[in-house]
Amino acid sequence: MTPGSIRPEPILPAAIRPEPLLEVQGVGKTYGSVRALAGVSASVGAGEVLCVLGDNGAGKSTFIKILSGTHQHSEGTLLAFGVERRFAHPREALDLGIAAVYQDLAVVPLMPVWRNFFLGSEVTRGRGPLRRLDVASMRATTKHELGRMGIDLRDVDRPIGTLSGGERQSVAIARAVYFGAKVVILDEPTSALGVKQAGVVLSYIARARDRGLGVVFITHNPHHAYPVGDRFLLLQRGTSMGDFAKSEITIEEMTALMAGGAELEALAHELERP
Ligand SMILES: Nc1ncnc2c1ncn2[C@@H]1O[C@H](COP(=O)(O)OP(=O)(O)OP(=O)(O)O)[C@@H](O)[C@H]1O
Ligand SMILES: [Mg+2]
Repeated sequence: MTPGSIRPEPILPAAIRPEPLLEVQGVGKTYGSVRALAGVSASVGAGEVLCVLGDNGAGKSTFIKILSGTHQHSEGTLLAFGVERRFAHPREALDLGIAAVYQDLAVVPLMPVWRNFFLGSEVTRGRGPLRRLDVASMRATTKHELGRMGIDLRDVDRPIGTLSGGERQSVAIARAVYFGAKVVILDEPTSALGVKQAGVVLSYIARARDRGLGVVFITHNPHHAYPVGDRFLLLQRGTSMGDFAKSEITIEEMTALMAGGAELEALAHELERP
């Protein structure tokens, strides 16, 4: 299959898609003389999952760093909730409700789950010298919020380091939702996980979507992206190979586009026994 065989994007009536929460038009980024990203357009609306796919070095992390305020774009426009923005700091994006969850989650492994859930935003009660952490309330809230995301942890006092990778990712998603995220950006949350755990994380992505959040999900695995995604942005060496709605691309077409179908075929020949 060649890229040319992909159907061109039809023009959908506006009513079918929600208003974008986040949108980029022709966005690009250079690091010194390295052009990491150029001319990328995509958007995500409430209750939608935008998957960003591409091989190593395709520009996926660069793309989400622009969305989350870690890096500024050097060209194009970024619109957040309909307003053009240029974030100087991740805090600015976070204050608007754009939260990024990175793969190397910033957790304190020996601290309980509830403590990690409230890390940096601890609830206290009392005043002055009598000010204490409100442990009971933080415990209860953590349990409740995890439950709302369908995460059943009997004991929120467990050190977070004893949870599986998938569970930790899920706690991070629940945390972002609780602290007011309208858009969550996930950088390869499933790449280090086995099949079952990846499934766990995918189901939390679906939950977040069903609660009306916009989700930007970065992965290089079409089999993780396809079942949960509504739209697919395919990146290759810093440029966009297209932004497709699910109805416009099959998983086979996506896989072939990503791997460079011809390259894989050539490799298959090379690997054949003489
Ligand atoms: N801080 C930086 N300085 C210079 N070049 C960078 C920097 N960050 C990324 N790059 C380059 O930009 C390109 C895109 O990198 P990026 O990390 O966005 O890719 P990626 O799709 O996330 O890859 P991976 O799947 O390996 O995480 C690469 O060629 C990379 O070497
Ligand atoms: Mg990356």
